[in-house]
Amino acid sequence: MEDTLKSILEQAQAGVDGVSTRAQLEAFKAGLLGSKGSFTVVLKGISDLPVEQRPAAGKLVNKVKQQIEALLDEARERIEEAEAAAQLGLPVDPTLPSPDDGPGSCHLLTQVCEEICTIFHKAGFVVAEGTEVETEYYCFDALNTPPDHPARDLQDTYYLPSDVRCGNISKKRQERYILRTHTSSVQIRTMLRQSPPLSIISPGRCFRRDTADATHSANFHQVEGLFVDRHVTVKDLRAILDYFVQQLFGKGAQTRLRPSFFPFTEPSFEMDFKSPNLGKLSDRWIEVMGCGMVDPVVFEEVGYDPEQWTGYAFGLGIERVAMILYGIDDIRHFYQNDLRFLQQFA
Ligand code: PHE
Repeated sequence: MEDTLKSILEQAQAGVDGVSTRAQLEAFKAGLLGSKGSFTVVLKGISDLPVEQRPAAGKLVNKVKQQIEALLDEARERIEEAEAAAQLGLPVDPTLPSPDDGPGSCHLLTQVCEEICTIFHKAGFVVAEGTEVETEYYCFDALNTPPDHPARDLQDTYYLPSDVRCGNISKKRQERYILRTHTSSVQIRTMLRQSPPLSIISPGRCFRRDTADATHSANFHQVEGLFVDRHVTVKDLRAILDYFVQQLFGKGAQTRLRPSFFPFTEPSFEMDFKSPNLGKLSDRWIEVMGCGMVDPVVFEEVGYDPEQWTGYAFGLGIERVAMILYGIDDIRHFYQNDLRFLQQFA
């Protein structure tokens, strides 16, 4: 009997590695410990032994049984681990109810963007949209931005790999794709499609190479505006900006224009505003947008007669406005998707 038990144990030890599913494990177990299993047969044989041999045989049988059970336990653990690992790789079931069942809300940047668009919408501006991947032409050339302008440097703009080019007319006219650095490209696209007069705003995501810190992000959002009509002057620009800051920052808000430079506007300005009801920022001049009168060169490029048509344009960063309005001290909060931050604005 001792020999039989030894060979049963050896066979079990040799065979257990081949067991890889629960069903195989059950069958393997039944072959040993089931009512007709090899081990059970030996166990039953004890009663046939002479009485004086039975205690020693019982001891041996128990020892072997423990060894077999340890083998089976090990195999079960190994199978369960493999099943869990396989489940992690299973596709997610999107029809299951979310463990987080609170109502959703718009991201703060979306809310502020909508607020800005609503203000301009009331003044007759309509939203025009464009793509985030642009060509150099719409982002720079058509906007009077020369090839040696710093914005066109690889250090300032994201270019798509040089084998991804557009335009199949001639090699010379082939251009590189970029991630748009401002939504002014949408103004060009709209003017090429539509004849004047027009008043549009173009909200959207923009990209500039930047090292992220509290006030810089390589990805940010803008709302730009363009108004084209006959006899438009800086006074009209000033009027819309006054209206805008009073709607957004409160009735007492004022604007100030400082000379600046943009290739596509002449004259160009930086607009500052101050407001009496802005908490810590009250009554301080704060820079929020670039603006100016559309350069006649841009009108010529899109086929508008600069003798007849005049216009103003402006552009502002949505992150900056949101930070001022809500006292947010770090631009990176907007992109980290930390619900503790986002839910404050739900
Ligand atoms: N496009 C400019 C920028 O992104 C902003 C701007 C728009 C300035 C329109 C003047 C007129 O910085």
